[in-house]
Amino acid sequence: MTAYSFTRYLSAKKSVDDRALNQQVWQTFASALPPEPRILEVGAGIGTMVERLLERNVLKGGWYTGVDNQAENIQTARQRLQTVPAGLSLTWETADFYAFAARIHDQPFWDVIIAHAFLDLVNINHALPILFGLLGPGGLFYFSLNFDGATILQPTIDPAFDTLVETLYHQTMDERYIRGEVSGDSQTGRHLFHKLKAAGAEILAAGSSDWVVFADDNGRYPHDEAFFLHFIIQTMQQALNDHPALDSSLFNAWIAQRHAQIEVGSLVYIAHQLDFMGKVNDRSSAASIISPK
Ligand SMILES: C[S@@+](CC[C@H](N)C(=O)[O-])C[C@H]1O[C@@H](n2cnc3c(N)ncnc32)[C@H](O)[C@@H]1O
Repeated sequence: MTAYSFTRYLSAKKSVDDRALNQQVWQTFASALPPEPRILEVGAGIGTMVERLLERNVLKGGWYTGVDNQAENIQTARQRLQTVPAGLSLTWETADFYAFAARIHDQPFWDVIIAHAFLDLVNINHALPILFGLLGPGGLFYFSLNFDGATILQPTIDPAFDTLVETLYHQTMDERYIRGEVSGDSQTGRHLFHKLKAAGAEILAAGSSDWVVFADDNGRYPHDEAFFLHFIIQTMQQALNDHPALDSSLFNAWIAQRHAQIEVGSLVYIAHQLDFMGKVNDRSSAASIISPK
């Protein structure tokens, strides 16, 4: 395995996400959608969420805007979604979502904001009030796949070393700085319960959406999920490369063993995540969030 393309990763992730999404939260969201919603998705990647909404017949018309700051993702989304129902107006934009929001914040417009596998990468204290400021009165949010503090890899290689790697990996999520602010939180899921309320939102449904990836009896993973797993292991390697608390030869051997487990279909990967949907009643309290994680 040489090339770990991010767009291929997002594509491979789709079947993992399809299984993971919390069904009760999804159903609550689907039944709350107005007939022709105006939907904004931030961190939309290559467009797999709008594909899913169309495939599952949840979205039949309205306006859908997907924003992502990686031009290659947006280009891929445009290629994947060339044909959509006549009643749906689909727009893609390569932009940083803070810049996008700043440009249009004086015209609350959207009925729904979606963020999928996204809020655990940003500073939620900063992002939630901005996102909610874009919603019209009574607007809805669907925030899915928020990482929540557990990365489980089986079989165990070495109990103490496995735990150390998991702990340090989560620390790298907590210490990620973008433009001078902490951006990311390895316990975003659980923190969203009080952060959403503090931002003026009412949670109407919440539940777990763990990724669970395993091979069949022949050692084969479904779809492109072996690639998905290789990408995850590579992400851990990149995050912890040269970490002072890790013996580098032990760590490199550990990484190589995880890749080898994928090749023979023995690796099981579980990541704990939480989904939320709800509505925003009080946008005025959004600005007051200043507390730390
Ligand atoms: C983990 S990916 C999830 C993508 C997509 N929602 C999915 O699940 O397939 C996070 C996405 O957020 C985008 N992103 C990160 N920071 C962003 C920002 N400040 N503004 C817009 N997009 C951002 C990345 O380019 C990436 O596509």
